[in-house]
Amino acid sequence: MAGSPVAHLIDGREVLSQSGATFESVEPATGQVLTEVALGGDEDVDRAATSAAAAFDDGRWQHLPAAERAARMRKVADLLLEHADELAETEARDSGAPLAKAQGDVVGAAGAFTYFAQLPEHVSGRTYAADPGYLLYSRRVPYGVVGAIAPWNFPLLLAAWKSAPALAVGNSVVLKMAEQTPLSTALFGKICLEAGIPDGVLNVVHGDGATGAALVRHPLVPKITFTGSTEVGRQILRDSAQEIKSVHLELGGKSPNVVFADADLEQAIEGSLFTSFFNSGQVCTSSSRILVQDSIADQFRAAYVQRARNLVVGDPMEAGTQLGPLVSKTQQDRVAGFIESGKEQGATVLVDGGTDPARPGYFVTPTVFGDVNQQMRIAREEIFGPVATIVTFADEAEAVRLANDTEYGLAATVWTTDLGRAMRMSEQLQAGIIWTNCPNHGQWNVPYEGHKVSGLGEDKGLECIDTFTHLKTHHVNFGGHRYHWA
Ligand code: NAI
Ligand code: MG
Repeated sequence: MAGSPVAHLIDGREVLSQSGATFESVEPATGQVLTEVALGGDEDVDRAATSAAAAFDDGRWQHLPAAERAARMRKVADLLLEHADELAETEARDSGAPLAKAQGDVVGAAGAFTYFAQLPEHVSGRTYAADPGYLLYSRRVPYGVVGAIAPWNFPLLLAAWKSAPALAVGNSVVLKMAEQTPLSTALFGKICLEAGIPDGVLNVVHGDGATGAALVRHPLVPKITFTGSTEVGRQILRDSAQEIKSVHLELGGKSPNVVFADADLEQAIEGSLFTSFFNSGQVCTSSSRILVQDSIADQFRAAYVQRARNLVVGDPMEAGTQLGPLVSKTQQDRVAGFIESGKEQGATVLVDGGTDPARPGYFVTPTVFGDVNQQMRIAREEIFGPVATIVTFADEAEAVRLANDTEYGLAATVWTTDLGRAMRMSEQLQAGIIWTNCPNHGQWNVPYEGHKVSGLGEDKGLECIDTFTHLKTHHVNFGGHRYHWA
């Protein structure tokens, strides 16, 4: 392998691991190694956390005027867009996502910094009705060091999503992104530095689950923000118990996509395909559990299946590719296992996709199952691949029962043109986000929170001020009240 490994960014400097350990980042489209990357151990996480804490304590970032922090964050957004081509190509090669998706993510990451650059000037508190002679007020103050851990499905976007709000309110950050896709985050760290985010305020440590766990357990990191699987979310809660950390979790989903007979059918089909198969289904809010009303089921199924067969699976770098490979061999095997289980448990194969052993790379072609019942693994577990299930229902009550029959509660989509029905469904569906005729719509100013096992704490929007600060109250005796006790 030519060149030295991709380095961590610690205290404003690119450094390798103290142990010298590295891991390989692979190109999913070919299975070939792209480059070696420094593998962070406990001592590297310690260096990063210590540098982040020192940068917080000396006020080089949190005590800058709010307008100055905002300006530097807007500069990050500008530089992300300036480097858009390099970032998107790096991301597409490292993650397997189609280039167009990676380009969209660069715009999204810049959008995060532009939006959250508005926050520094809006961090505030309250005053309270006070006894005579007292001033009582509260302030939202940053935690100090935020440990941010994220998965591989939106690497650059999530790096920005996690760090922009944490930085906006004055924290330092240690980012530990996914081991499958470290390359865009390495570029992101350098861009933040160039934009004037001071040394030590934004650190990047590359590595795997052990690196993430070291960050979660580090005593100088009081706040953790995590996106990823529910299983790891549970482990993070356990690992945070000793130090009673504040933990923010955005976890898995098994989101329903409910199509009523009165829906705009053409749009329902188009939107259902998008939410099932965008990024090859590797999206937490993918609404691939399709529930269709009996009276239109045949028509919907025929059209959806026909369209799913024609989706373009191919080279991420080629224009027109709709689905690239999955991120890794592990993920490919996992999704192939789900497809196998669907067949074994008696679901009907409507689109016979899957893997092709002769094809290099980690491709899985779209797969659609019918006659799925609620006991099947494909109906209950997050697949995170291009696999959709179609289930029919008779009426609203049955749709609600099926939609809510899951431990997850991230998102739900409803397709209907009946306003009353839309509102009734919105009230009854157990999920943090309800999309009526618009799956996966999002804006930075609109918050959300996963319900049930899908999450803990609020993401995006002004709510991030509360997520990334804690409360401090001040009682000031200015009226001369004197203690008479002993
Ligand atoms: P994961 O949840 O294991 O990994 C996510 C991140 O957490 C990575 O950066 C990883 O290095 C880190 N991590 C792993 N173990 C950790 C620990 N004990 N402490 C701290 N950090 C740790 O997800 P993975 O293994 O990549 O994917 C497995 C399945 O999880 C997927 O098939 C999918 O079903 C689900 N998943 C869901 C996501 C979502 O956004 N809903 C995102 C990623 C995965
Ligand atoms: Mg890779």
